[in-house]
Parts: sequence; structure tokens; C-alpha cells
Amino acid sequence: MADTHIVTIERHIIEEERRHPGARGAFSNILSDIALAAKVISRQVNMAGLVDILGRAGHRNVQGEAVQKLDVFAQDVMYRAMDHTGHLCCMVSEEVEDFIPIPDKFPAGGYVLLFDPLDGSSNIDVNVSIGTIFSILKKVSPEERGSLEDCLQPGRRQLAAGYVVYGSSTMLVYTTGNGVHGFTLDPSIGEFLLSHENIRIPEAPPRFYSVNEAYEERWSPGMRAFVDHLKGRDGSDGGGGFSSRYIGSLVADFHRTLLRGGIFMYPGDSRNPEGKLRLLYEASPLAFIAEQAGGRASDGRRDILEVEPAGLHQRTPLFLGAAELVTMAERFLAEG
Ligand code: AHG
Ligand code: MN
Ligand code: MN
Repeated sequence: MADTHIVTIERHIIEEERRHPGARGAFSNILSDIALAAKVISRQVNMAGLVDILGRAGHRNVQGEAVQKLDVFAQDVMYRAMDHTGHLCCMVSEEVEDFIPIPDKFPAGGYVLLFDPLDGSSNIDVNVSIGTIFSILKKVSPEERGSLEDCLQPGRRQLAAGYVVYGSSTMLVYTTGNGVHGFTLDPSIGEFLLSHENIRIPEAPPRFYSVNEAYEERWSPGMRAFVDHLKGRDGSDGGGGFSSRYIGSLVADFHRTLLRGGIFMYPGDSRNPEGKLRLLYEASPLAFIAEQAGGRASDGRRDILEVEPAGLHQRTPLFLGAAELVTMAERFLAEG
């Protein structure tokens, strides 16, 4: 038996809550409810090939992307796990154009949940790791029910952020501002057990850089120069010694970066100057986690967590991972 003590995510959350004297349990309940939703989604993901859950749902979402059946399922599970608990004043989902109010028949609470219910949709039918990403904000508007103002807050104001990666095992990784902690689902008992306490992004090589190089023609000169540097092509010191990895699921690419080091990049380019990834429920939560693990997250010019959101689904370029590499990327981009 491993020498680690057995800690469920529910117990860890309660211990975390004790660090926030003003917390009244609602915050912990939200995190526990997310863990429950993750177990339900994980079960469906692991059966995807056996039940009629693969393939397209037959409509397009607010992003104009073809929605997969599992996207719809994950969205529905998150919504039904969270809408009645009385802890949230509203929600934001990648799959829903406007913010999602709490039905009048249920009490509203003091928190906002923002989430990407199923990240990496293009990988669902080919059995590649996918994920769920979430972010929790405190309500700021005076009204009893939530409003857009409660949703459009900079990432620096997040109380908690996390993701679930449905891979060779299902892991839930989260932070409440006191380090980053990972829990692995033991399906035989249906519990997330602490498996990665206080994760820190390693600085030492070997390191990975992660970007979709098919878009190289559209990159800025600075972006091209940075990737050439990582490849050791420009002969300057500090270059080379990297491996390239690109899974195409943000959660999986970030999870590897968190555990093995390196940098993940989804830059803006000549066709999509703001890139593809969304600020509120992809970049911001992962930026909070990266910083808590000793890393950084930038849009190429400034910290992701400082960006003032103007829209629920606004996109942002994203450079995420080891602090020295993100800072180096900013330097190359500024020169190019
Ligand atoms: P989602 O499935 O939630 O729309 O996210 C997909 C994103 C992200 O997971 C990944 O990093 C990126 O799409 C991959 O985009 P490319 O296929 O353009 O590389
Ligand atoms: Mn996504
Ligand atoms: Mn998604």
C-alpha cells in the first residue's frame, strides 16, 4: 500500500475552506458538486463508444462550431448539478450564448460558475483525452439574481479554478489560491483521491513546447522567431533541447505542461488575431492554476489574469506554462 494517506477531494476542500475564515460552506459545496458532475461525465466519456453518445448533436454552438453529443451531455450534467443548489447567482458556459440565470424557483447564491463543459471536442470520437474546465467568481452586483457584471470580472478575481482531464485515468486538478492539487478518480469506490499534492511546474529540461504548427504561415515574425529559438535554429544560447507535443485538447496539453514543464501556445495570427481560446472559461482558469504552480500565463503582452473581459465568449491569444518561457515568448513577440 502506498505510504500516502487517503484523502478524498471532499475532505481536502473542507480543509481548504478552513483557511478562508469568512467561508460559509457554499464555496466548498460548489467544488464538491463539480466533483460529482465530473464523475457523471467521466462515466459517460468512458462508455462513449458503447452508447449512442459519439458523433455530432446536429447543431452549431455560439462559436459556430459543430456541437458533439458529449458536449451537450456534459453541459446538461453541469447545469443540472448546479442550478438548484442555491450557491450560484448565474453561470457562463461555452455552449450557451448568454449568461445562464438560476431559475426563479430556486434560491440564488453568492457565486458565479463559468465553465467549458467539454474541452477538446474534436478529439471525442478518436478516444483522445478531453476535459472540463471551471472557474468560480464571487458575485459583485447588488441585485439578488446574477447579471452580466458578475460574469465579466478579470481572472485575478477568481476564488477557485480547476479542470478535469478524462484520460488514461480521470483527474480533477484545482486551486483556491493555496497551491494546486490533483485528485485521481478511483472508479471502484467512486471517489477522487489526492494523488498530486502541491503541483509545481518543473523548470528543468526535458521540456515540451506545444503549438499547432500547421498555422506557422499565419504567425507574426516574433512568434516564428520564438519557435525557431525553441528548435535551436537561431543558434542563440538557451535554444534547442525541446520536444514538440500537441494533443489538440487544451486540458490535456496543459496537464502535461503542468506536470512535465514547458510551454503551451495558442497565438493570435493573421486569420484570427485574438486566437481561438476563450478568456473566461479556458484561459483565465488555467492561468490561475499556472500561477499557483509557479508558472505564468500571458496573452503575449500581459498577464491573462489582468485582462478586463468585455464579452462572455471573447477570445485571447494564450502562452501558458513555465514562467521563464512565457516571459521569453513575450520578449520575442515584442521584437517581432
Ligand atoms: P473546445 O472543444 O472546448 O471547443 O476546445 C477546443 C480547443 C482546445 O481544446 C484546443 O487547444 C484547441 O481547440 C485546438 O485547436 P486547433 O485544432 O485549432 O489546434
Ligand atoms: Mn475548450
Ligand atoms: Mn468545449
